[in-house]
Amino acid sequence: MYVVTASAGDQQAGCLVGFASQCSIDPPRFMVWISTANRTYGIARRASHLAVHVLRREQRRTAELFGGETGDDLDKFDRVDWWAGEGATPVLADCPAWFVGRVRGLVEGDGDHVGFMLEPVRHGPPPGDGEGPALLRFSDIADISPGHPA
Ligand SMILES: Cc1cc2nc3c(=O)[nH]c(=O)nc-3n(C[C@H](O)[C@H](O)[C@H](O)COP(=O)(O)O)c2cc1C
Repeated sequence: MYVVTASAGDQQAGCLVGFASQCSIDPPRFMVWISTANRTYGIARRASHLAVHVLRREQRRTAELFGGETGDDLDKFDRVDWWAGEGATPVLADCPAWFVGRVRGLVEGDGDHVGFMLEPVRHGPPPGDGEGPALLRFSDIADISPGHPA
C-alpha cells in the first residue's frame, strides 16, 4: 500500500493508494491511479509533483487517516508530521521509503481512476543492508472502508 500526497496553491491532499506500480526501468517511471471522486484527485490535477510513500506495518493509524478519512471533512496534514518537498509536495515524516515524482502525464482510461505518470526526482535514503522493516500490505488493512466512495 502507498500514501500519495499532492499540493496545489495553499492546499494539500493525500490518500491511500493500492493501484500503483513501477512502469518503466529506463527512464524510471511510476504510475499511481487516483479515483476522480477523491479530494486528492482535484489537487493532484493541479500539482506539478506527487509524493509516494510506503508505510511500516505498524503505521496503521496513518493508513486509516489517509484511506479511511477524506480531506473534505478534516485536515489530514494537521495530524501527521510532514515537510514540503519539490512543488511544495507534502513528504510524510517517518516513512520507511518515499519519493517525490514530477507529473509527466496522465492516463485517463475509461474507468473511475486516472493514472498519474511520475518521474522520480528525489527519494528517501535507500534501505541499509538486511531485511528492513515489514511493510504495510493490503492484507493488514483490508478492513478499512475508503473515506470517499469511489
Ligand atoms: C485498501 C484501500 C485501497 C485504496 N486504493 C485506492 C487507490 O488505489 N486509488 C484511490 O484513488 N483511492 C484508493 N483508496 C481510497 C482512498 O484512499 C480513500 O477514499 C480516501 O479516504 C480518499 O481521501 P481524499 O478524499 O482526502 O482524497 C483506497 C482505500 C483503501 C481503504
